[in-house]
Amino acid sequence: MAEIRLESVTKVYSRGGDAAVDAVSLAVADGSFTVLVGPSGCGKSTTLRMVAGLEDVTAGQIVIGGKRVNEVAPRDRDIAMVFQNYALYPHMTVRENLGFALKMRKTPREEIDRRVRAAAQTLGIAELLDRKPGQLSGGQRQRVAVGRAIVREPKAFLFDEPLSNLDARLRVSTRAELKALHQRLRTTTLYVTHDQEEAMTLGDQVVVMCGGKVQQAGPPMEIYRRPANRFVAGFLGTPPMNFLPGTLSKPGEFDNTHFASEAINLVNEPFVFSFGRERSDRLKTHHGAPVVLGIRPQALALAAEQEQGRDFPDTNQFVCELLVVEPLGDVMDLVCQAVSGERIVARVPAVDGLRAGTTIRLEVQPERLHVFEPGDFGAALL
Ligand SMILES: Nc1ncnc2c1ncn2[C@@H]1O[C@H](COP(=O)(O)OP(=O)(O)O)[C@@H](O)[C@H]1O
Ligand SMILES: [Mg+2]
Repeated sequence: MAEIRLESVTKVYSRGGDAAVDAVSLAVADGSFTVLVGPSGCGKSTTLRMVAGLEDVTAGQIVIGGKRVNEVAPRDRDIAMVFQNYALYPHMTVRENLGFALKMRKTPREEIDRRVRAAAQTLGIAELLDRKPGQLSGGQRQRVAVGRAIVREPKAFLFDEPLSNLDARLRVSTRAELKALHQRLRTTTLYVTHDQEEAMTLGDQVVVMCGGKVQQAGPPMEIYRRPANRFVAGFLGTPPMNFLPGTLSKPGEFDNTHFASEAINLVNEPFVFSFGRERSDRLKTHHGAPVVLGIRPQALALAAEQEQGRDFPDTNQFVCELLVVEPLGDVMDLVCQAVSGERIVARVPAVDGLRAGTTIRLEVQPERLHVFEPGDFGAALL
């Protein structure tokens, strides 16, 4: 096993072109499961392929197990990669597919047999060893692809969207199996996906990328709770975080900063959230400045029933038009429209009797508010 380190790694495909990967630095600790996540085209696969040695590094260096590998051939890096299209050899049986890399390395027959049987056992495909890939389901083929990586007993695994070809249900169960497998083998793993839920559930470290750059890296719940910028805040979490433009007020007599927004107002009263004293202190250099407020759908609740009909909102409440109710079982999503036309989604415990087209009053948990500088990548201010 080994640590993988990227030091300011850049990849430019065509001379003078934009960097597909732009000065990326990250460390995958020995034995950890690190997930690179970001929208399509953000440079995830390029990063992974440079670690594998399938792409040259334009600048910076890659260090595996304490050794610079920029000039080391892929086969000598002792790393196994699993791709989205499993690339199994169709004319070989599962047993032959699993053992192929070892055979190429002139591993003794008995050793190949032993490792193939152990991997097949681990992955629950022992009874499939004599089949050809064409006789397997998508999920089984995926296991064989993982098995091929396991038998090599490499220093590290690299996965590039290995679950994308599976249907939703199978993806969720296979995801749990991959995590269990890692807990057993503890092999250093770098895993790429565009799916934020997959990233959160699998990684002990999540690295969010956009535009070839690392936006934030850390344990998944830390990133979820304290996103460093608006992009990360909007990318992790379902439904996505709501964003509202507005301004921070100067503190009044209680040293309490307020957020006022024309976006959600009622009869010309700007809408007001209150941050409380401690958080106000951290916002004080931004008083009077335009900001973007972030509210997770889970941080919103329906105001108490007796408050629903009242005309003027209390602090931390606002009214909006309920456009659509999406029942999800225990919870439901309320898709609402503020007076200015902003969409706001609230995820609340399921209740009966809400009707689309009516006005409802929502309440925010002020301690769960996020504040960002303006712009798509505006930095978090709290
Ligand atoms: N072989 C290539 N030649 C030129 N440009 C490429 C090549 N592979 C990827 N790119 C470009 O590099 C950027 C990052 O691509 P990629 O690493 O595949 O992103 P992701 O895996 O996050 O979807 C994209 O703009 C893509 O078009
Ligand atoms: Mg990719």
